[in-house]
Amino acid sequence: MKNIKDLDIKGKKLLIRVDFNVPLDEHGNITEDTRIRGVLPTINHALDEGAKIVICSHLGRPKGQRQEKFSMAPAAKRLSRLIDKEVKLAPDCIGAEVKALVDAMQPGDVLMLENLRFHKEEQENDEEFSRKLAEMGEIYINDAFAVAHRAHASVVGVTKFFEQCGAGFLLQKEMDYFDRSVGNPSRPLVAIIGGAKVSSKLGALRNLMDRVDKMLIGGAMANTFLKAMGYEMGQSKVEDDLLDTARELMLKAKEQGVKLYLPVDCIVADNFDARAETLRTTVQEVPKNWMILDIGPASTTLFTEAIENARTIIWNGPMGAFEMDAFSRGTMHLVHRVAASHALTIIGGGDTDVAVHRAGEADNISYMSTGGGAFLMLMEGKTLPGVAALENH
Ligand code: 3PG
Repeated sequence: MKNIKDLDIKGKKLLIRVDFNVPLDEHGNITEDTRIRGVLPTINHALDEGAKIVICSHLGRPKGQRQEKFSMAPAAKRLSRLIDKEVKLAPDCIGAEVKALVDAMQPGDVLMLENLRFHKEEQENDEEFSRKLAEMGEIYINDAFAVAHRAHASVVGVTKFFEQCGAGFLLQKEMDYFDRSVGNPSRPLVAIIGGAKVSSKLGALRNLMDRVDKMLIGGAMANTFLKAMGYEMGQSKVEDDLLDTARELMLKAKEQGVKLYLPVDCIVADNFDARAETLRTTVQEVPKNWMILDIGPASTTLFTEAIENARTIIWNGPMGAFEMDAFSRGTMHLVHRVAASHALTIIGGGDTDVAVHRAGEADNISYMSTGGGAFLMLMEGKTLPGVAALENH
């Protein structure tokens, strides 16, 4: 895969696909701009080279309809502030009016196209839409790791219409870190997998089982494994249809020599509520009318010891319902331990990301991925369509 450094972009018109799908509050203010900051190296490099920079992105899921609340305007404004330069917002992402704005650009100008998903053809990877979008640049750069798992027009279809394509620094960095963590890791490699459902991470669990030395499973998904081992889970979330799958995974761990760690104790509550009555108990003694909402202190100690000799740690998914203080201790404690580790530490997925930021440890993690779905797809051992499009170009 070529990257922006391999291409002669001097004075050229670049169409850069970014993922500025950032969270907004009810007034349309950006509440978290990591994804925008993430592409600054690419944009600054392009500015240094005197390129004309046309940026395109989606925001939210407007389902092919123009809706003001999904406008790229706040992102254009934030980018402008970060690069200390005017960022014009085009009225659309394709069409004659936008093309005229692009044609009038001078070296060093930055133009942001309006939300790609205002056209349903974007998500359909429509050929004609891809062609029209490709008119907005001479060289295509993909720096949108977080949407590289979507075979959409601006990610895949568009590449066909460019002679020169490459990855931006963020996409390259994400792929390099993932390779260092799972493709070619320093061992022991430990995966920490949490979150609500086994079903949403089944592919990742299966793939990682072939690659890791240790796997730590927490969060509500651990309940399914614990039930498969014969423990009563009370009112806890369990995927009963996946009990056999959980057994199959545990067997696979044994066969592969993967050391599998599950919680040994937990915090249970009489209700899914921040003010619920809580108890600490072992996984053998979960009371009938209570539900597990966090791992307990013994599990935290166990997990901490398990990561002690790790050279690489990859983590996706919290250990409990950490958004409620009463059930955040397991996740928070583990965040601090992972942050203090000497291992290469890579964290992906929205919830885990929030937990790390809340713990104030973001700077102590080797790499925080900007992708949720894309990161998960890599964990499943699959090739991202956006990356394949660049590699096969
Ligand atoms: C994300 O936030 O995960 C990406 O921007 C992709 O968004 P999507 O799930 O709406 O395709």
